[in-house]
Amino acid sequence: MTGDFTEETATEAVIDSFARTEDPRLREILASFTRHLHGFVRDVEPTQAEWEAAIGFLTAVGAMCDEKRQEFILLSDVMGVSMLVDAINNRTPAGTTESTVLGPFHVVTSPQRELGDDLADVSEGERVLVRGRVLSLDGEPIARAQVDVWHADADGFYDVQKDDTPDQDLRGLFTTDAEGRFWFRTVLPSHYPIPDDGPVGDLLRRTSRHPYRPAHIHLIAGAAGHRPITTHLFIEGSPYLDDDTVFGVKQSLIRPVTVEGDGKAIDFDVTLA
Ligand code: BEZ
Ligand code: FE
Repeated sequence: MTGDFTEETATEAVIDSFARTEDPRLREILASFTRHLHGFVRDVEPTQAEWEAAIGFLTAVGAMCDEKRQEFILLSDVMGVSMLVDAINNRTPAGTTESTVLGPFHVVTSPQRELGDDLADVSEGERVLVRGRVLSLDGEPIARAQVDVWHADADGFYDVQKDDTPDQDLRGLFTTDAEGRFWFRTVLPSHYPIPDDGPVGDLLRRTSRHPYRPAHIHLIAGAAGHRPITTHLFIEGSPYLDDDTVFGVKQSLIRPVTVEGDGKAIDFDVTLA
């Protein structure tokens, strides 16, 4: 570098410092990141104290992370970044099931279960049968598709958030039958607050935002020759369907709970590209 590092030369100086990066994609990402980061700093003109607060916030986000808590994903979620990345990476043809955010709770491998099994090893609550088919875009059922499901309990907590619950409760990995069908029993999940006892929760409070997500069941469906999809089944009538704190709701994913005899059921077909 020749000449001083000044307000005028700063951005090009840093971009130049990455010029010998061999991986062209990494070089492109670093140049763009530098441009946007410097643009943000020039826009905001932070004081030294504000810069320290920002470093402190990011440090606190990192310190909150362990194998069961991913505060950086939470930050990405409440900033709408997770949903934006999801939208960019899932420009699938019309007719396919829409995707939504993965969330931070897919942290343990779901137990393989038989069709019809109960996900609730220990959780109690209002019982429901969930059933659907995995289909291809032409409407043909996909046999031997994999459907991975996980959800919160009737109080809005995931197994990994509870000390007294085995880490496979309300999780299951199913294989569709010859007609592409899957079905399982479980308890109805509640809407819930995302974990808000860390720096992301502080951010929500400082900005008068609530931490809630509407009631949902997570699914990842995949099959040989098809694009896997990460999505949710949202429960009609749940609070926060119109104000999800992580911006994850899509109207096409909302389903009613229907009454069948003395039980309840939810139907949710998944169409893969
Ligand atoms: C979830 O649905 O599990 C979730 C998504 C984003 C943030 C927190 C939780
Ligand atoms: Fe969730």
